[in-house]
Amino acid sequence: MPLSQLILKNFRSFSSKELRFYPEFNFILGCNGAGKSSVLEAVYYTCYASSFRSANKEDMIKDGEQAFFIQATTESENEISIGASAEEKVVKINGHPATSHKEIASIMRAIILQQKDINLICGYNEDKKLFLKQLLYLQSDDANKQYAKLNKILIQRKTLLEQKKASSPEFQIWTEKLIEISQSITQAQKIALEKLTTIAKEIISTFTPQIILEIKFEENKYHNLQELRSTLEKERVLEKNLIGANQNCFEVKFKNKDAKHYSSRGEQKVIVFILKTAMLESTQIKTGAKKIFLIDDFFSELDPKNFGICLDILKKINAQKLIAMPTQDLEIKIQENL
Ligand SMILES: Nc1ncnc2c1ncn2[C@@H]1O[C@H](COP(=O)(O)OP(=O)(O)OP(=O)(O)O)[C@@H](O)[C@H]1O
Ligand SMILES: [Mg+2]
Repeated sequence: MPLSQLILKNFRSFSSKELRFYPEFNFILGCNGAGKSSVLEAVYYTCYASSFRSANKEDMIKDGEQAFFIQATTESENEISIGASAEEKVVKINGHPATSHKEIASIMRAIILQQKDINLICGYNEDKKLFLKQLLYLQSDDANKQYAKLNKILIQRKTLLEQKKASSPEFQIWTEKLIEISQSITQAQKIALEKLTTIAKEIISTFTPQIILEIKFEENKYHNLQELRSTLEKERVLEKNLIGANQNCFEVKFKNKDAKHYSSRGEQKVIVFILKTAMLESTQIKTGAKKIFLIDDFFSELDPKNFGICLDILKKINAQKLIAMPTQDLEIKIQENL
């Protein structure tokens, strides 16, 4: 069920704020600093108990206050509340302490699209690796556990590398474990990315059939023992992990060209919009849960044609849309398009 009401107390610049939402489109308009991103951040925080723009929950507590409070109510009267101070955080669902993230995900799941997502095309591989991880998490309940196992192995290996114990039998065991878990995560990543690609292509073919989009999975793979041996040697020198499924990445081609170096800024933005929309579409949800698409000031550089394409796509997808934009000018543009 869609989000119907949000109450904020001492959150960012808001002392006390109550907002109501429509089930489909919601435009959050206002001048710079009005609190638009803060509203999206509060919705995201309700879903994940973490922010998309700050690792530190103190940043979200209104200056001079001790704690913030968020209460989100869905149309079916489910209520998620979060109270957080510097020391602690309490998440409740319908008045009872939440037991897991899964429980919240069974009520609503949000995806954020923001300016810095352009890094999926223009940035470093780290952004794409994170995207892959998030994609897997949104598509499968098992992903979190798998990545937790992988992380544990990576920490053990790194410690041994730092202790210069790369020749020890212990290191050999962790390397074997790493290869084993990596095979299973890699397989899941490939399937998740294929699903995303199929959806992205469907979206594109409906609106701009002449455009070809390709997403190529890049596996951290060793074709022979010699290649693996030289990477292990590098790991020894650098004292850090260089192998594992967390190193897998992907490349985006647009009109058969590398989107990073060939596509225009507007084209890159449309591609990122499509990738994130496909991510949202591929997200698994329990019956009754609602997907929420949070879009924070992303359309500003698009011309009216591309902006119109994005709006048409948004009209088709089954999600509640919360779109933050800075100017009144865009409000007029949107009303013309809807
Ligand atoms: N902890 C805090 N306490 C009080 N004010 C804060 C806190 N954190 C941020 N702010 C202020 O809240 C205001 C709202 O920020 P927000 O990023 O939500 O604005 P916005 O409407 O998205 O602006 P823009 O159009 O520039 O993106 C800003 O002026 C910011 O300085
Ligand atoms: Mg903002």
